Amino acid sequence: QLILDTIDARSIIDDTRTLTIPGQSQPAASHEDQITILGALNSLLSRDMIVYETHDISSHALTAEGSQIVTEGSHEARVWAALPETGQGTPVTPAQLKKQVGDETAKVGQGRAFKNGWIGKEGDGLVKLTGTVKDVTQIDLKEVASSGTLKAREKTLADLRKRKLIVQRHGQWFTVRKGAAFSTSTAKPETDLTVDMLTSGAWKTSTFKKYNFDAEGAPTEGGALHPLLKVREEIRNIFLEMGFAEMPTSSFVESGFWCFDALFVPQQHPARDLQDTFYLSDPKEALPPEPEYYKRVSTVHEYGGFGSTGYRAPWSHAESNKLLLRTHTTASSAHMLYKLAAKCRGEKVEGDADEFAHGVSTTDNEGKKDEKDDGFRPAKLFSIDRVFRNETMDATHLAEFHQVEGVVADRNLTLADLIGRPLKFQKPFICAKQILGFMRVFFNKMGIEKVRFKPAYNPYTEPSLEIFAFHPMLDRWVEVGNSGMFRPEMLEPMGFPKDVRVHGWGLSLERPTMIRYGINNIRTLVGHKVSIEGIESSPAVMF
Ligand code: PHE
Repeated sequence: QLILDTIDARSIIDDTRTLTIPGQSQPAASHEDQITILGALNSLLSRDMIVYETHDISSHALTAEGSQIVTEGSHEARVWAALPETGQGTPVTPAQLKKQVGDETAKVGQGRAFKNGWIGKEGDGLVKLTGTVKDVTQIDLKEVASSGTLKAREKTLADLRKRKLIVQRHGQWFTVRKGAAFSTSTAKPETDLTVDMLTSGAWKTSTFKKYNFDAEGAPTEGGALHPLLKVREEIRNIFLEMGFAEMPTSSFVESGFWCFDALFVPQQHPARDLQDTFYLSDPKEALPPEPEYYKRVSTVHEYGGFGSTGYRAPWSHAESNKLLLRTHTTASSAHMLYKLAAKCRGEKVEGDADEFAHGVSTTDNEGKKDEKDDGFRPAKLFSIDRVFRNETMDATHLAEFHQVEGVVADRNLTLADLIGRPLKFQKPFICAKQILGFMRVFFNKMGIEKVRFKPAYNPYTEPSLEIFAFHPMLDRWVEVGNSGMFRPEMLEPMGFPKDVRVHGWGLSLERPTMIRYGINNIRTLVGHKVSIEGIESSPAVMF
């Protein structure tokens, strides 16, 4: 405010040292004052209220002794003044002089006064030799006090410094002029135009802070989806686009019954070994499944039925009831298919089982009305969730991973509905009974154009097909999944009518993610070694 008021009155402050800082009676001189002034100047400059120039100076200031000389005269002058003029009084003895002017002044002053010819001896005492003296030291110090220097008299300055009457100071002073936005108001400029300012009209007189377009801006903080979650989302969207409904897959723990028996996986199958499957120790056993269904499953295993000879091996209830961590999401699919067949079993169902069933059968598409109402409703289901296997872990295997699984249930489906034909043989995407094949469409949507199928073996599907995709960057075919048509030994004990066929295919989520983003060690994608920065900057997350 002081700066603003001063230039308001004078339009220029030519030397900030003349400013009196509020709360101080002396003009600004101390180091603290200099800093206060510089801070105020910079703050006003940033608001364009002033402009200033800096001047570097070196100046002199009086010491305490120097200041005393300015007010009381030099030591020699004080000695001279204490003496009588020659012949006009009793000469003063050195002892008396000491008493009168003090030890220090008497000692220093006598020598210099003698040298100047101001005083002389008379008997034992001292007397004045001149009527007047010119106290040069006092005059010089007065000049230093007011101007900080002695004009063009470096030698004298050096002499006064040596006598410790003055000290040299380095400092700055400023010339201050009005700036473009000069005002005597120090009110902080506004940063926002508010409703209040508009209604009160205060905006007309307010000063606003200028935009700083050079400011770097605060770094943005943001979360990032893990690449696996990102790819999971993409795949989920593909399924949804294709009219699939998501199955609930929240139970990681299943029984041997649902994970294997219901799928017609023999109880002696190596996949059920301790080396491959994690079994629970507490609790060890599941609640028994619905007794009639359980009976049909155990019978088809032990003795056959539904056109099958069965495995003809003794049935173990204990094996069936063991709790385990599901080794594939097909365990969840089995649960859902069993629910889907509830009406076919003649059970009264409320909502739930129909939740995932699609109302229209493909047989309806051919114009024939579905005469027999055996309760079956076609369904397209999918899931993407975690499964567990007792694997030896290495760069591409972990004990847990994600499976993507699709299931399609309808009457009289054929293998062609599952795998379709290569796109070059496809007619335009119109015919009702299109042979596009779910998997081909699905993988195409994932960006995999070339797919190939190889006959394989699965205990629960017949035929079974391994799925291979051509990887243009790796320039070779890589296995991406497994598929097949579920066996009658699995579907019929559930209660599905004989003409209902169910397709299934499964793949891991990790594999395509790793291939797609060129990740060759699974540990950089999953687990405690994953770097958060790596995830944030991963192309999988950015695009
Ligand atoms: N469950 C199989 C697997 O773990 C995948 C699959 C699902 C195969 C459905 C056929 C049908 O590899």
